[in-house]
Amino acid sequence: MVDHAFDGLHVALIMDGNGRWAQARGWPRLAGHRAGAETVRRVVEAAPGLGIGTLTLYAFSSDNWKRPQDEISGLFRLFARYMRQEAAKLKKQGVRFEVIGRRDRLPGPLVSLIEETERATSECGKLRLRVAVDYSSRDAIIRAVEAGARDRASISASLGPDVDLLVRTSGEQRLSDFLLWENAYAEFAFTDAAWPDFTAAGLRDMIEDFRRRDRRFGAVAPARLQALR
Ligand code: FPP
Repeated sequence: MVDHAFDGLHVALIMDGNGRWAQARGWPRLAGHRAGAETVRRVVEAAPGLGIGTLTLYAFSSDNWKRPQDEISGLFRLFARYMRQEAAKLKKQGVRFEVIGRRDRLPGPLVSLIEETERATSECGKLRLRVAVDYSSRDAIIRAVEAGARDRASISASLGPDVDLLVRTSGEQRLSDFLLWENAYAEFAFTDAAWPDFTAAGLRDMIEDFRRRDRRFGAVAPARLQALR
């Protein structure tokens, strides 16, 4: 697949806390996921204006198969509804939609819908929206190597762009097998807000803070070198 040049940051989002958000209100966990889908819509809409070129969302990890069957099928229904309701809008907004992760264990109709949405938006170049479904970063790395990738450049090309900013909501501070290779030099940002309460303004603040950080990628900052001379 041709890797379009999407200008802007690569922001990766671990959308955590839907279940706790719902349970705190005495609602079923799925109500939290439904509210979370609204946050997805708002964040995707705001992303290009925040300087984001690629947005990767962690929607369903390969370990999430351990959840109750009704929560899993509810999540798949939500993904399908999102694609059905948003495809035309995504195309109009210039959003190229992609799903990363395994497809062979997903329900057939969901896979067809994913393929249809990817096809419909394949020419879009303003924002690359990647949704991770049945995703495990360890497995993705193994698959890349098994497919013949042997060096940094080819493994990166097979996986996707490096992450600039990794965000996790809901007070948790771990990677949970998400973009392990791509996060090698990512900056991290955490918030106590549950995903349904997360806002585009919150993301804007994180990006502003990110832009003030000194990313050295292992080197010494030029100003410090100057001072040492
Ligand atoms: C983590 O919260 C969230 C998920 C496993 C699902 C994320 C899915 C959505 C936001 C729904 C819509 C997505 C798209 C792409 C339309 P959790 O359930 O683990 O929360 P908890 O830690 O409070 O239990």
